[in-house]
Amino acid sequence: MTGVGAIAIEDLANRLRVETSGDVRLKEPMSAHTTFGLGGPADLFVAVRSQSDLDALLELCRGGAVPVTPIGDGSNLLVSDRGVRGAVVKLAGDFDRLAIEDSVLEVGAGASLGRAISEAAAAGCAGLEVVYGVPGSVGGGVYMNAGTRNGWISDVLLAAELLDHHGTRRWVTRGKMGMSYRHSCLQDLEPPAFVTRAKFGLKPEEPARIRQRIAAYASGRKESQPLQWRSCGCMFRNPEGDSAGRLIDAAGLKGHSAGGAQISEKHANFFVNTGGATASDVYALVKTAKSRVLEYSGVELVLEVKLLGEWPDD
Ligand code: EPU
Repeated sequence: MTGVGAIAIEDLANRLRVETSGDVRLKEPMSAHTTFGLGGPADLFVAVRSQSDLDALLELCRGGAVPVTPIGDGSNLLVSDRGVRGAVVKLAGDFDRLAIEDSVLEVGAGASLGRAISEAAAAGCAGLEVVYGVPGSVGGGVYMNAGTRNGWISDVLLAAELLDHHGTRRWVTRGKMGMSYRHSCLQDLEPPAFVTRAKFGLKPEEPARIRQRIAAYASGRKESQPLQWRSCGCMFRNPEGDSAGRLIDAAGLKGHSAGGAQISEKHANFFVNTGGATASDVYALVKTAKSRVLEYSGVELVLEVKLLGEWPDD
């Protein structure tokens, strides 16, 4: 019997299988749910398919004192090799729905950003494509205020629907979302809340012109980023007025490796899984990059990627 709270995880899984239509798995390797392809087992992993599934799950976890960790497409996560205790929850099914009316896109948090962008473009709605190429889900994009040099999610976000761990759901307008560079108020909430839906205010434009911009963004990324390898995009936030990639490069770390993980030769803020990497290998590179950049340029790099599970404190 495994337990992190007042209820055994196996009992919780059984109840969820009976009471919801979610995909419920015990000891699910997180490597199957992260773009890095890394991470040990979650005690319980649930892909919920409807709002009522999610409500039931939160109620059971609250009652059983089981911690809940929401994830999106796992594109900005480094999950410990020891895995994650409690329940890891991904939004699927109804949370992938998308509708566009009067240039407002309303989309479930489980949908991928890529799909939201391409459906908006097909409907002649421009604005969200500024984040084209950033991997991840709509929910993850709002949580991170995902962005590129062309713009950020917060440029077009009207409001996000949030669901807290008490089960209270409400729409929060952009001005109250605390959005700044790679930040939203969601990052400050403990226990975490879910983004369940988002609304984006877009502008009418010819689909062909939007697609032209998307193609230009895509080729820019292909030229400068190691997209053929598994990674979680940029590892560190850009310090004000500088670039983490430039700083790691200047510290002589391009191509530096630990086990199966490598600081990309192509872009030094991308840490890639060259095959057979562990999360600890990546973590070792993170520590090396932080200390070498501090030594070389006096800049303290801050992770953009979120660490999940148990890690050393230093
Ligand atoms: N640079 C180097 N060496 C490197 C990498 C970059 O000298 O190894 C230099 C470049 O020559 C350039 C500068 O650093 O002068 C900035 O590099 P780049 O234009 O590649 O942009 P970036 O700041 O590293 C940002 C976002 C990316 C986004 C790109 C393109 C951050 C942390 N990163 O990268 O977003 O894709 O711009 O718009 O804000 C991501 O894709 O995961 C991501 C976070």
